[in-house]
Amino acid sequence: MRAAGVLVLLLLLAAADAVLPDGAAGPWPNMSGVVVTDTMTLLDEQGAGQTRALRPRLLPRHFIGTAAVIRGNGYDVEQHTVTTPDCYNLTLFRIPNKNGTHGTMVFFMHGILDSSAGWLVLGRGVALPFVLSDLGYDVYLGNARGNTASRFPSCRHDPDRDVEWWDFSFHEIGIYDVPSLINYALKNSNKSDTHYVGHSQGTTTFFVMASLVDGMMSKIRTANLLAPVVYLKCTLSLLMWVASIPSTLLWLAVKALGVPQLVNILPYGPIYPLLGDTLCAPSSPTQDVCYLILFPAAGFNWDQNRTVFPDFWANSPAGCSLKQMSHFGQSVHKRCQEFRQYDYGPAGNLARYQSVVPPSYNVSRATCNLTLVYSLNDYLGTKPNAQKLHCEIPTSKLVEVADPNFNHLDFMFGKHAKTLVFDGVVARIRSYDGL
Ligand SMILES: *[C@@H]1O[C@H](CO)[C@@H](O)[C@H](O)[C@H]1NC(C)=O
Ligand SMILES: *[C@@H]1O[C@H](CO)[C@@H](O)[C@H](O)[C@H]1NC(C)=O
Ligand SMILES: *[C@@H]1O[C@H](CO)[C@@H](O)[C@H](O)[C@H]1NC(C)=O
Ligand SMILES: *[C@@H]1O[C@H](CO)[C@@H](O)[C@H](O)[C@H]1NC(C)=O
Ligand SMILES: *[C@@H]1O[C@H](CO)[C@@H](O)[C@H](O)[C@H]1NC(C)=O
Ligand SMILES: *[C@@H]1O[C@H](CO)[C@@H](O)[C@H](O)[C@H]1NC(C)=O
Ligand SMILES: *[C@@H]1O[C@H](CO)[C@@H](O)[C@H](O)[C@H]1NC(C)=O
Repeated sequence: MRAAGVLVLLLLLAAADAVLPDGAAGPWPNMSGVVVTDTMTLLDEQGAGQTRALRPRLLPRHFIGTAAVIRGNGYDVEQHTVTTPDCYNLTLFRIPNKNGTHGTMVFFMHGILDSSAGWLVLGRGVALPFVLSDLGYDVYLGNARGNTASRFPSCRHDPDRDVEWWDFSFHEIGIYDVPSLINYALKNSNKSDTHYVGHSQGTTTFFVMASLVDGMMSKIRTANLLAPVVYLKCTLSLLMWVASIPSTLLWLAVKALGVPQLVNILPYGPIYPLLGDTLCAPSSPTQDVCYLILFPAAGFNWDQNRTVFPDFWANSPAGCSLKQMSHFGQSVHKRCQEFRQYDYGPAGNLARYQSVVPPSYNVSRATCNLTLVYSLNDYLGTKPNAQKLHCEIPTSKLVEVADPNFNHLDFMFGKHAKTLVFDGVVARIRSYDGL
């Protein structure tokens, strides 16, 4: 019954998307005063000039794109382009410290299907980047390859034309994107180290980096890893179960078809802010359906601040690669409930890794001051899996969110995220800094 409702809703939205004109001129948020440090224009963030313009006229209340959200909350923003060693261009945002001096740095890394905008949904005074900026911190927000903000042609391939562009998983994000973003930010701010805050895949990629990229741990002051997703034994998340079905074969088969649109999962489109502003708006009787789409993946929790929900849809989902999903899916299967590099099958693994099974990531190489924050109603980052991780990193601190209904997405826009999670993160960061 509800599934049919969701289907009808999606079909209607798809029809509306096809009918409505693109790129209607309208009031973009006032962007003057924004420090643009790159040749890209800020309005290009939604796909780097390759995708059609959004329809701002239909979206008067919400900010589209991280730069607009930051500016809209009354902060300055810088936008930087960072090039990885394998030639992907990524977008890095900075909220420069208001008083001009550079405080200690904090670097944020978002989760799967999300972007840097996800950290900002709760707005000024609540959202962690804004709170830390108010405290004098120098805040940077990274974007992984494949999301709305980091979707530029690489040296050899184009995300809209070449399936090869999408040949990455969280492995490449961990070994290339995160270190490149952090090193760039450190250089830009003339700093030698940073605090790290990661959510979901932003924790996965942290451990990939810790395991394989030398010299990074000395640059991390503290790591606050929210809703850690590393081991996925007995995950309840529908998202992960769906990811586990296709796994390797589907990725290889779909890649062979050579249609990039098929390997780009849930890319950003103007349909989502439109949905957020209409059928998912607080005044709409169908708002519950919009929550219902997310809960099987994240955990059921109806105790939400319904006002901020459209701000989530304004910038989400932000897209990822099928291979990225497939890599997570491999960790769900019974036989490999481990944290390993991408499994290409025995022959593929032999050729690539000189071993029938892919190498494991060594999470105990995460030797920095590290805190794992998990919650009991998180379908992705479950308690036993957080405990397993904690056991393998004896110096880590394990923190349980006090509300038993707190789910995976509540770490981003939960009604009580500030008191339950953010305040603790701020306290740990400040305590480390001796403040
Ligand atoms: C935009 O903001 C700037 C400064 O923040 C202000 O000077 C300018 O008048 C604003 N423009 C509009 C059209 O509101
Ligand atoms: C200015 O920046 C310094 C260093 O980052 C910070 O300690 C101080 O609190 C900031 N002052 C204000 C008024 O924001
Ligand atoms: C990637 O970034 C580099 C350095 O900022 C720039 O020179 C290059 O043109 C960019 N490539 C694309 C495809 O945007
Ligand atoms: C960078 O920081 C170092 C040490 O804090 C300082 O000596 C140097 O002058 C700074 N360089 C710039 C360009 O600000
Ligand atoms: C919900 O969010 C809005 C917008 O940020 C805020 O003004 C309001 O106080 C929040 N309500 C609760 C109960 O947290
Ligand atoms: C993992 O890393 C730790 C710390 O560097 C090291 O002591 C240990 O031997 C490593 N384990 C494996 C299996 O490589
Ligand atoms: C991490 O930093 C905090 C604050 O300085 C400190 O209390 C704690 O002992 C540190 N943890 C480790 C494992 O060093």
